[in-house]
Amino acid sequence: MTHKTKLTVLTLCAALFMAGPAMAKPGTADKGKEIYNKRCTWCHGDEGAGDGAAMDRLNPPPRDFTSGNYKIKTSSFDEMTPSDDDVFRMIRDGMPGTAMPSWKELLSEQDMWDLVAYVKSFAGFDKPPAKAVDYGTQIASSAESIEKGKQLFEDGDRCVECHGKTGKGSAIKRLKGDAGERTWPRNLTKPWTFRGSNDPKDIFTRISTGIPGTEMPSFADPSSKKKLSVEERWHVANYVASLAKTDKAVNAENTVVKADMVEGELPATPDDERWEASTPTTFILVPQIIGEERFFRPSNDTITVRAMYNDKNVAMLLEWDDRTKSIPGDGDAEKLADAPIAEDGVAVQLPVVIPREMQKPYFGMGDAANPVNIWHWKSGSAGAPETTSLLSSKGFKEIEKRNAADVGLMSKASYDNGTWKVVMTRPLTTSAADKDIQFVEGKFIPVAFAAWDGSNFSEKGSKHTMTTWYWMLLKPATGSRPLVTALVIALLFLGGLLWWARSAGQATAAGNKY
Ligand code: HEC
Ligand code: HEC
Repeated sequence: MTHKTKLTVLTLCAALFMAGPAMAKPGTADKGKEIYNKRCTWCHGDEGAGDGAAMDRLNPPPRDFTSGNYKIKTSSFDEMTPSDDDVFRMIRDGMPGTAMPSWKELLSEQDMWDLVAYVKSFAGFDKPPAKAVDYGTQIASSAESIEKGKQLFEDGDRCVECHGKTGKGSAIKRLKGDAGERTWPRNLTKPWTFRGSNDPKDIFTRISTGIPGTEMPSFADPSSKKKLSVEERWHVANYVASLAKTDKAVNAENTVVKADMVEGELPATPDDERWEASTPTTFILVPQIIGEERFFRPSNDTITVRAMYNDKNVAMLLEWDDRTKSIPGDGDAEKLADAPIAEDGVAVQLPVVIPREMQKPYFGMGDAANPVNIWHWKSGSAGAPETTSLLSSKGFKEIEKRNAADVGLMSKASYDNGTWKVVMTRPLTTSAADKDIQFVEGKFIPVAFAAWDGSNFSEKGSKHTMTTWYWMLLKPATGSRPLVTALVIALLFLGGLLWWARSAGQATAAGNKY
């Protein structure tokens, strides 16, 4: 086959996949073994026991195929064997939010069917499952169905027990997988982290089968005290699908936090309704892997930023989902953590001097030629209140800690059902222009963010998640010329920025993988 016809065939295959579910084809375990030994042993181990070289760095750990546990399957809850289609789908699409990659770019359809045959043989599965999930008749989503689903979700704490009142997974419960690994209930407002998609039919399937090997139970099991009928499961599935926070999805083209100019006082608290009027921008948080202690098991994944300014001050609202409020010394928090708990935190990084042109941003914590300011908020501990500190940094080794109050830098935080919100405010200008950024309108100001989840493997210091550099713009009152010029410059740099954002995306994938 020529390269070109191969490409055409591949494209055709891709089109077929998109058109509908793949049709099961018999694979050959012997051929699957060859591919497996080349592609899969690094994580899943030579004998399929989930003990490959990468094992220690991954959470969730690579699956032990000899256990026979398949999480995302359409066979009945009391049937361990997955269908060939189920296994094929996970190999083809990967499992979002875990290190399990999608193989559709690298392997042919036949390769993947061969792998299905080989992987299933580790648990001795040689027959198709005897029973599949009963879908009855699908109930289309509607306001009424969603409302019924919400009731069932909350009744007797059915789902709330683990997923929390708002579905963000913030219930105070300690959960483990069968391999003894720490697991977290899914944040149901973030559909891009679902292993099996948030299409109502997929959600219905998960509620019906549970997620084997984890504490997510089956609600089709007649012996379950909280069981649901087929009809009820459709309502719950429609409700869960409706929880998706689409405004918090990352749009790689949104690289600028736009601050509106307001008359009068700025909102000083996170829950001030005036924040609703400003445009949120959401960025990907990736694990910090540049500093001395590299970090591979992040829990925070995105941060949403809003900003406003008036004639005196600038204020930023930083918002991120964190299932645990980490307060060292706090009983509830300590019950949940595996390692000693550290404070939750968030930081904003800004250059001391706004670059005259949009320079290619630099990583790390500044350097001698490019000093930065870091505004760092920490949640405090049982005996001590939350704190805000100001750092002047010229790189990892040259950091000066200063008194935030001296420059009028202040924060206010709130935590509610799995979401932190922190407002940071500072005067536009300070008396130390050589040390502090002096904000001006109409210029693209580089800005980067970092977050710490103190309940996740004691994140502190250089162990945290972070964004790459983005921009912040204090939008001048409408119609001003400088903005037009600035926007033109911004467009010129957009290409470069998109590249940067994409590398950050890849860094996430890589960060999760290795
Ligand atoms: C970089 C590590 C990594 C590599 C390489 C990898 N996997 Fe996985 N795989 C994982 C992890 C981690 C999980 C478990 C995810 C979870 O439990 O949510 C997993 C789970 C699976 C599952 C279970 C699906 C289910 O429904 O439970 C299958 C099947 C699978 N992998 C097949 C493969 C095959 C076949 C290959 C090689 C072509 C492969 N994996 C390569 C990390 C990897
Ligand atoms: C005892 C705790 C517990 C209860 C009760 C529970 N869940 Fe879960 N749920 C989990 C855990 C843990 C996970 C993540 C499992 C994993 O690690 O993959 C999860 C994952 C999920 C997922 C993600 C599926 C995917 O494709 O990734 C959905 C959807 C879900 N649960 C819905 C529900 C609904 C709806 C209910 C109530 C009818 C419910 N859960 C009740 C613990 C629970």
